[in-house]
Amino acid sequence: ASLTDQLMAEVQPALTTSGGKVTVVGVGQVGMACAFSLLTQHICSELALVDVMPDKLRGEMMDLQHGLTFLRNVKIEASTDYACSAGSRLCIVTAGARQREGESRLSLVQRNVDIFKGIIPNLVKHSPNCILLVVSNPVDIMTYVTWKLSGLPKNRVIGSGTNLDSSRFRFHLSQKLNVAPSSCHGWIIGEHGDSSVPVWSGVNIAGVRLRDLNPLVGTAEDPEKYNEMHKEVVNSAYEVIKLKGYTSWAIGTSCSVLCRCILMNQRSIFAVTTSVKGYHTIDKDVFLSLPVVLGENGVTHIIKQTLTEAEIKQLKSSADTLWDVQAGIKF
Ligand code: NAI
Ligand code: LAC
Repeated sequence: ASLTDQLMAEVQPALTTSGGKVTVVGVGQVGMACAFSLLTQHICSELALVDVMPDKLRGEMMDLQHGLTFLRNVKIEASTDYACSAGSRLCIVTAGARQREGESRLSLVQRNVDIFKGIIPNLVKHSPNCILLVVSNPVDIMTYVTWKLSGLPKNRVIGSGTNLDSSRFRFHLSQKLNVAPSSCHGWIIGEHGDSSVPVWSGVNIAGVRLRDLNPLVGTAEDPEKYNEMHKEVVNSAYEVIKLKGYTSWAIGTSCSVLCRCILMNQRSIFAVTTSVKGYHTIDKDVFLSLPVVLGENGVTHIIKQTLTEAEIKQLKSSADTLWDVQAGIKF
């Protein structure tokens, strides 16, 4: 008898899957930050990594596996073959080109569309019931592209969107007010990045709206210059990329929280990229971030925020910009 047979007697064969499988495509800085956050926060029970670089895949897989003793027993696989992603409930797509210093997100579009053509149909083939969470930039356009390439209903294709920008904004508020970021309530909507829209009309602490205290808050006329915070949010990625070459930890935690909400059907509200046609008078088929309710089947509701005319105008202008970029995409 083998050592295993001497040690223990089988009552039932062990199940090969536990139903909490997540795939991360792209094991670069962002993909690995997502993977690490998923593992340390105990969000998935199986993790598949896919990339085009076999050695990097194997190295990252082994390095994560060697830490499992200190975490929970997650089954980690890695392969260039999408078969390893089969049965995923959620697939996070982080593959592709990233901005160089000073480069805009929109400049990446055709390069990443060409990469996505080889990724999205493969993910859907092996996990036809999954939710797709797009991270690669320009994330709003790549979410639209993913929806087109996947053939999935709109509720099952989301982008990480302005959940990250909102977090950056709440961090800046927290520094100004010396309370925790999670107690500073404010939403950044629209395009992730350059033309994002801060919803100043709703920014509040414990239900106290800052606009009720100072009607000029968030405007250029405000003597306390709270509007600088949004400029810092827009500039964040450019600054971090200049300093360390890429951004990773904040987007990794942002994605793992979205992932937990979906896998556990928590119905929390996040600003993520979704189809916005028909909302706030937008009449174009574009994807932008609005606050949505997220559950096991993806987006179930879009929150109808009370926006000012100026905020709607900014949102529509982002929609027009994205629409023009989308028109130039070669599928
Ligand atoms: P990276 O260069 O470190 O990693 C990219 C990975 O994609 C590499 O491992 C590469 O081998 C892989 N890859 C390339 N082609 C592939 C293919 N056809 N199939 C599978 N894998 C492929 O880049 P990083 O820093 O991880 O950024 C990834 C993307 O995420 C970029 O587009 C970046 O702009 C975006 N990003 C988005 C954020 C957001 O808030 N939405 C935040 C930070 C980055
Ligand atoms: C970000 C990326 C680069 O960190 O989109 O905002």
